[in-house]
Parts: sequence; structure tokens; C-alpha cells
Amino acid sequence: MKKLPAELADLLQMAYSAEKAAAFAYQGHAAAVNDLSDKKAIKQIEDDEWYHRKEVLELMNLYGVEISAWYEIKYHVIGKVISASCYVIGWFMPMYFAGRLESGNVNEYFRMIDLFHSAGIVQHDTLLTELGIKEKEHEVFFLAKIRTHKWLPLFEKVFSWGANKSLNTVKSTEVEAVDL
Ligand SMILES: [Fe+2]
Ligand SMILES: [Fe+2]
Repeated sequence: MKKLPAELADLLQMAYSAEKAAAFAYQGHAAAVNDLSDKKAIKQIEDDEWYHRKEVLELMNLYGVEISAWYEIKYHVIGKVISASCYVIGWFMPMYFAGRLESGNVNEYFRMIDLFHSAGIVQHDTLLTELGIKEKEHEVFFLAKIRTHKWLPLFEKVFSWGANKSLNTVKSTEVEAVDL
């Protein structure tokens, strides 16, 4: 069994646990929105995150990377806190921070491709590209929800993500029209 570079093993462990945080967060998020089609779309995104977690675990198993107990606890708490907060802070902030988080997640999967390449492993490119593009679809979905909100320009300035700023370089035209 080939041993992965430490940075890559850590990134896989973190992604595995962070996918759980995201899935938990979307449970609260879906429950807190009123619009039925938004509820359905966010439930679909939650399902995507569980699928990502499963795929990441399979990769970890291939290389003997163990689940990190610390990340599992940390992201469990983070996910549950975000989930609960969705009920109390209105709809804009959960939508905004979900989009911003997804924007960064896109990079993580592309970073994994680079790190696998540096270890001479190219056979996971298709899967990791698929996961990264799916995160981009999630980003595009959340951005569409808040694009015209009056708070967006301010949040974009402070948190560096919004209608004109992304945390990744994947163009939204590179993902299919999102029909969640
Ligand atoms: Fe994900
Ligand atoms: Fe996502």
C-alpha cells in the first residue's frame, strides 16, 4: 500500500469530517427555510455531501489513511452549531456562509489532485474533479439565492466572497445550469 504525503492524508481526513459538518449544517438550513423548492434543493445538497464523505472514505481506505477522531469531534460540533444557528439568524447569513464555504471546498478537491500527482498517482482525477465541480454547483446555487440581497455588497467586502469574488477560479459557466 502506497503511503500518501502527510499533507494529503491530512487533507483527506479533514475533508471526510468536514463533509459531515456540511451535511449537518444543511439539515438545519433546510428545516429553517420556508420555500419548499429551496428546502428540496438544500436536502439534495445534504445528500451530495454524504456521498462525498463516502467517496473520500473509500480513497482513505485505499491508502490506509485512518479517520481522525479529533476532526470527527471538531466537525461534528461545528456542523451541529451551524445547524442550530440557522433557526435564529434568518436566511441571509446561512445562505451566504454556505456559499462561501462551498467556494473554498472547490479548491480542496483540486488541491488533492495536485498532491496525488506529486505522489505519482493520477487515477483519482476524474472522481476528485467530479467532487470539486459539485461543490462549485453548490456555491453557484447559494450565490443565486442572495445575489440581489441588499446586504451582499457589504458582506462581500468584509468576507471576500460574493457576486464578484470567488475563492476558486472555476467559472460558474463550467458547471451545468444548476437544476437541483
Ligand atoms: Fe462536499
Ligand atoms: Fe458542498
